[in-house]
Amino acid sequence: MAALKEKRTCGQRCEDFGRFVWNSDNGTFMGRTPVKWVYISLYYLAFYVVMTGLFCLAIYVLMYTLDPYAPDYQDRLKSPGVMVWPDTYGEEKVEINYNTSDKCSWMKMTNILNKFLEPYNDTAQHECYNHNCTKGKYYIQNTFSAPDHTKWACSFTKSMLGPCSGHEDPTFGYNCSMPCVVIKMNRIINFLPTNETEPPPYVNCTILEGHDNVDKMEYFPEGGIMDRSYFPYYGKQAQPMYVNPLVAVRFHLVGERSAKIQCRVVSHQISYQNYHDPYEGKVDFSLKAVK
Ligand SMILES: *[C@@H]1O[C@H](CO)[C@@H](O)[C@H](O)[C@H]1NC(C)=O
Ligand SMILES: *[C@@H]1O[C@H](CO)[C@@H](O)[C@H](O)[C@H]1NC(C)=O
Ligand SMILES: *[C@@H]1O[C@H](CO)[C@@H](O)[C@H](O)[C@H]1NC(C)=O
Ligand SMILES: *[C@@H]1O[C@H](CO)[C@@H](O)[C@H](O)[C@H]1NC(C)=O
Ligand SMILES: *[C@@H]1O[C@H](CO)[C@@H](O)[C@H](O)[C@H]1NC(C)=O
Ligand SMILES: *[C@@H]1O[C@H](CO)[C@@H](O)[C@H](O)[C@H]1NC(C)=O
Repeated sequence: MAALKEKRTCGQRCEDFGRFVWNSDNGTFMGRTPVKWVYISLYYLAFYVVMTGLFCLAIYVLMYTLDPYAPDYQDRLKSPGVMVWPDTYGEEKVEINYNTSDKCSWMKMTNILNKFLEPYNDTAQHECYNHNCTKGKYYIQNTFSAPDHTKWACSFTKSMLGPCSGHEDPTFGYNCSMPCVVIKMNRIINFLPTNETEPPPYVNCTILEGHDNVDKMEYFPEGGIMDRSYFPYYGKQAQPMYVNPLVAVRFHLVGERSAKIQCRVVSHQISYQNYHDPYEGKVDFSLKAVK
């Protein structure tokens, strides 16, 4: 109870606070004399000016040394990720489920593919530079000889996907049980997928579940090959016209028309067993067509 008795009234506390703000006895304002306040303000002002200056200098030096054409820090020797379109996700994985007799259902898939393939439109790609591209050879460019200080890029047109181009069959096989999927490998600056003596990288799909439900798999372009002329990639700024090479796979579904598939981009330089990145070098998805 002693503590309660010592409790001061509100008026006393206000008075204390007032004395703290302005103490006329020793002429201090908030515990310091005005002169001291001026000194301390000047000190902090100088301190912050110096800090800001150092910070700006550091940023300036960093920006000055950065190469605008390539990221400076690539933490490790990277292996590219692989993706599949139509990219309709189920709970975790890509699940390409559709109903052949429900136009809305398969139109969803064809719309995704049409949208994805837009940059590969033949007319758009023919405006692309496509300069000195030699099939089967890496397109190494040490100079910026394309217009606007850039590098040339080889074109990839939808037509190269044959029956999966959407030209002859605008449904991409989704109005029946022959769906096409498109496989893309992510870009990595300066990455060469194989050495010159090895065969070029190619897509190989394997059936993980439902072997009896897949009669046939067809690859476009021929052999599922990603031609060497699309490598190396020099970065967005150096190669603004670059498009990733694609591989389309057409599945002939039979029986229960349902399967789990894994598509891998095969090459010595592309790893696919990274536990932490299930999409490195490969992509898993399920396919299911109902009537
Ligand atoms: C597929 O679509 C048709 C027509 O809309 C419908 O009658 C049928 O029940 C659907 N099938 C399944 C498995 O949902
Ligand atoms: C490419 O795009 C243009 C304009 O968007 C369109 O007129 C043309 O039909 C397309 N070509 C093909 C082959 O899809
Ligand atoms: C294109 O190839 C020709 C013949 O190989 C070569 O002379 C020319 O310098 C090349 N041009 C560019 C821009 O690489
Ligand atoms: C699917 O569409 C293509 C192209 O429009 C057509 O030739 C084919 O007959 C259609 N198939 C079915 C089962 O409707
Ligand atoms: C290319 O790679 C293969 C397999 O990794 C290796 O055996 C061969 O020596 C390599 N060739 C060159 C020229 O580096
Ligand atoms: C594709 O992968 C399967 C399973 O790993 C293998 O048996 C088959 O030989 C491969 N095909 C090609 C063309 O590499």
